[in-house]
Amino acid sequence: MAFIINVNLPQQSYEIVIGGQGTAPQVAMLPEEAAQRAIAQGAQALLIAPESIDQLGEMMSNLKLGKKVLLVSNPTIFKHYGERVLTSLEAAGFEVVNCNLSAGERYKTLNSVQKIYDTALLNRIERSSTMVALGGGVIGDMTGFAAATWLRGINFVQVPTSLLAMVDAAIGGKTGVNHPQGKNLIGAFHQPRLVFIDPEVLKTLPVREFRAGMAEVIKYGVIWDAELFAQMEASKRLDQLRYVKAELIESILTRSCQAKADVVGKDEKEAGLRAILNYGHTIGHAVESLTGYRVVNHGEAVAIGMVAAGQIAVKLGMWQKEEAERQDALIQKAGLPTKLPDGVDIEAIIEALQVDKKVQAGKVRFVLPTQIGVVTVTDQVPSDTIRQVLQEMSFKV
Ligand SMILES: NC(=O)c1ccc[n+]([C@@H]2O[C@H](COP(=O)([O-])OP(=O)(O)OC[C@H]3O[C@@H](n4cnc5c(N)ncnc54)[C@H](O)[C@@H]3O)[C@@H](O)[C@H]2O)c1
Repeated sequence: MAFIINVNLPQQSYEIVIGGQGTAPQVAMLPEEAAQRAIAQGAQALLIAPESIDQLGEMMSNLKLGKKVLLVSNPTIFKHYGERVLTSLEAAGFEVVNCNLSAGERYKTLNSVQKIYDTALLNRIERSSTMVALGGGVIGDMTGFAAATWLRGINFVQVPTSLLAMVDAAIGGKTGVNHPQGKNLIGAFHQPRLVFIDPEVLKTLPVREFRAGMAEVIKYGVIWDAELFAQMEASKRLDQLRYVKAELIESILTRSCQAKADVVGKDEKEAGLRAILNYGHTIGHAVESLTGYRVVNHGEAVAIGMVAAGQIAVKLGMWQKEEAERQDALIQKAGLPTKLPDGVDIEAIIEALQVDKKVQAGKVRFVLPTQIGVVTVTDQVPSDTIRQVLQEMSFKV
């Protein structure tokens, strides 16, 4: 069985199909053949059943793409799944070239994208060709940016392999790279033709990366889906895939993708609502970039940012302390940090907030919760409140 989620965008709607057993609210459940039919009829994005990675080529052939495919991955992920994906694409008649980039956020740079362009040039990747991202959010963001810019835009398919990329990065069409001075400062909106999720690949995802993905899932609980939040609260553990019940994993995937699809469908280019997806990211990004993308990963930084935003909301009288504590307890249950990493300078964080993409007219915008499942966006946060919260979150106090 498979799930379909509609992503309604003004110019390009698409559907997401998620494989799994049972039903999830708001998500239509389809037998696999119906999912195939949906694709054949022009559904643009698909998440499909466990062990489905071998069907990628078949699914892509329904999209009527050109013959050439540039498969972008990193050596670790390629070792696990590269051959299977190559075999599947070639069996479906695609001519595939592969470009593996160094793994890690610190390689999410224009230099790495240049390697994709070089491979594209060498192998004559054309307007009708497709770039396929096989990897986590780093590979997805860079491949999407290369696809958005190569020959002014070619087809793009996401095969997310990390939990974070499955529930967040692969959906919604934001692509880009980091500038040495700030995260994701260079980028473009470019929607994938297909998002293809095989939940089985999570089995090889390192535990720390699974936890990082849980940070974004907790984010959806706080900003959008109180029921998802409650389901996670009811789970004994959230810190490792093998301790989380299959039904909860299914709910995590479907509800998170639904939340992202709902928000992006209402506001593709972040004119307003989409900004709520940045919950926890304002301070999170500053922490990530100040530690050189080496100390905390993206999800851990978001966890720290959510704790900070929650505390700011409490101090401003916008959120009940008890609810903030419930959020922090969930973050801890997922094995994520709630304190600032050692040695991060609080004033440097406050300064770094100024180069964040979310600054408007010189004012830093914060997404702050008002109740679990509901947030608001404000630029009325005094620096002193930020400072105080960060001091309380520092190990030195
Ligand atoms: N475009 C968006 O809307 C959006 C949204 C959220 C995050 N992001 C971006 O996503 C990035 C973070 O993504 P991430 O957390 O996936 O990190 P990542 O891409 O660095 O992947 C994390 C690590 O897990 C490994 N890995 C991934 N899948 C694996 C698997 N199945 N088996 C074994 N190893 C596996 C990777 O090789 C990597 O070392 C950040 O750059 C962030 O800015 C983008």
